[in-house]
Amino acid sequence: NLKKYILAIESSCDDTSAAVLCNTKVLSNVVATQEIHKEYGGVVPELASRAHQQNIVPVVHQALAKANIDKKQLSAIAFTRGPGLMGSLLVGTSFAKSLALGLDIPLIEVNHMEAHILAHFIEDKDQTSPRFPFLAMTISGGHTQIVKVTDYFTMEVLGQTLDDAVGEAFDKSAKLMGLPYPGGPLIDKYARLGNPDTFTFPKPKVDGLNFSFSGLKTSILYFLQRETQKNPDFVSENMNDICASVQFTILEILMEKLQLAVDQTGIRQIAIGGGVAANSGIRGRLKDAEEKLGWQTFIPKFEYCTDNAAMIGIVGYLKFERGVFTDQSIAAKARYAI
Ligand code: KG4
Ligand code: ZN
Repeated sequence: NLKKYILAIESSCDDTSAAVLCNTKVLSNVVATQEIHKEYGGVVPELASRAHQQNIVPVVHQALAKANIDKKQLSAIAFTRGPGLMGSLLVGTSFAKSLALGLDIPLIEVNHMEAHILAHFIEDKDQTSPRFPFLAMTISGGHTQIVKVTDYFTMEVLGQTLDDAVGEAFDKSAKLMGLPYPGGPLIDKYARLGNPDTFTFPKPKVDGLNFSFSGLKTSILYFLQRETQKNPDFVSENMNDICASVQFTILEILMEKLQLAVDQTGIRQIAIGGGVAANSGIRGRLKDAEEKLGWQTFIPKFEYCTDNAAMIGIVGYLKFERGVFTDQSIAAKARYAI
């Protein structure tokens, strides 16, 4: 039978997700987002692992039901081994191992960062896959990384963040402005109405293709403290312009590093992934780069950008095809480099 059905499980951070793929096509992709973290303004690891524990069985049931697949038809189980929060990873890892053992089918471990990149190879009418070689930039609440991708499993990390992820830079800046978590989408929304030249924030000086965002957060903090001392309503009166200026600075940092990566490698195919890929500003900048610099840019469907099990499933399928399986002694890995 040429049709392989892969059940995939993702539980690395605060989303519990299960997906069923038939070869490279997604039959279902169920995501239970944990709302509990909103009250705390960020992900609380202990609460995340408990919520995964509660969600995982219903989410897997839903994924199988939506795909209209019986578990006996499954060819293999793929799961996120890392990187991520240990308590969260353990839930998905233990569940996947048990189910594979029970069904007596192969187990496939997946690196979450490789999955963000290989999500571009999900077969879907709403997305096109890049050709090799390409540059991948993964930007989310947990990651900021530029990777040279020579083949499906031949990847080289060219640069990554030394401190905060870019999504964190958005969220922490938003928090300083009194916006609820996660503030990234709100900054995007207000930025569209503001003037990015109103305020200037310093860009970090980081060599090569690495990133740093913690200094930006600090300079925004001092800036807001200074201005609200003079005018207590400064933030509310200037919300759009502050957001536009903050977003502009973040996008400048990302685009400068991408340009440097293009210069260093000569590769002009750029594949973006992660939740921050939803940002309308970055989409605009990439479009400009297509027109002015001859880049070819790729962004997966939004549901394959944010954390999801479908991207774990595509890696599962690609490994299945290559006969790359994992045995039951496998353990989750909080730090797991590409
Ligand atoms: O990939 P994701 O859902 O979860 C992980 O962090 O792995 O990414 C979430 C991040 C959050 O930091 C959120 O603020 C940011 O993506 N984000 C955005 C936008 N939509 C989501 N940041 C800026 N503009 C957006 N439109
Ligand atoms: Zn992620």
